[in-house]
Amino acid sequence: MSDAENFPLVVDNGNPRHIAIIMDGNGRWAQKRFMPRIIGHQAGAKAVQKIVEYCVNEKIEVLSLFAFSSENWRRPAEEVSLLMKLFNATLQAQIKKMHEKNIRLLCIGEKSAFSPDLQAKIAEGETLTKDNTGLTLVIAANYGGHWDMCQAAQKVMEKIVAGQIESSSITEELIQQHLSTAGLPDPDLFIRTGGEQRISNFLLWQLAYTEFYFTATLWPDFDQQTLVEAIDSFRHRQRRFGRTGEQIFNQAKSSL
Ligand code: IPE
Ligand code: IPE
Ligand code: MG
Repeated sequence: MSDAENFPLVVDNGNPRHIAIIMDGNGRWAQKRFMPRIIGHQAGAKAVQKIVEYCVNEKIEVLSLFAFSSENWRRPAEEVSLLMKLFNATLQAQIKKMHEKNIRLLCIGEKSAFSPDLQAKIAEGETLTKDNTGLTLVIAANYGGHWDMCQAAQKVMEKIVAGQIESSSITEELIQQHLSTAGLPDPDLFIRTGGEQRISNFLLWQLAYTEFYFTATLWPDFDQQTLVEAIDSFRHRQRRFGRTGEQIFNQAKSSL
């Protein structure tokens, strides 16, 4: 076997800079226990705390969590309303603690659909933590990848209409700078719990070269151990970004 064929066995990408997670399976976790779905969401919120703690300790730069999709409004009104209450209560309980841990909170999504109270809570958390230099915690709420691209296109169009830029200056970088994740590195590792293998309109643009990891573990059962398994899987993958395996191998060898 050539060195290049062996290389994937010895590759170590180190820790991902940005981990993005679709926290799925709360409802099934509760149903398995003959409990209402909201109990699963509450257990899911507890799992979030442990994962955030791990990322803070491991000095992960960005953790993005899908909390509520733009399609989740289609759920029964009662579940939606309870989810909003849980989001509000979690912010209320966690904002100060996040600040103490040097976490910067960033909420992405169409916030105007939320109650004024929830919008104010989000703004309070973002403002309080905006200069923090530790983990950037991105909460995607009423978020959709399609929405993100549309709002970026609108902002770019406004600049064109105002004569600030030419349409010929629309580049990938320019679009990226107008997405809700502007300034953040793209996710290196994407995790979806709950067994489904789909993106469900999460960070569509940003996931272009992300490594995917799917697990059947339901989100409330996801813990530091399962996160370490996902990170280990990521660490040993050969990321080629369009190049050949041999090119990557030679590059790594020459930098030794
Ligand atoms: C994910 O868990 C949380 C949200 C979508 C808010 P689900 O509620 O989708 O759980 P399942 O997929 O029904 O088990
Ligand atoms: C995706 O989960 C959204 C969140 C985890 C918040 P869903 O459980 O809503 O996804 P689909 O609709 O089954 O694909
Ligand atoms: Mg689900």
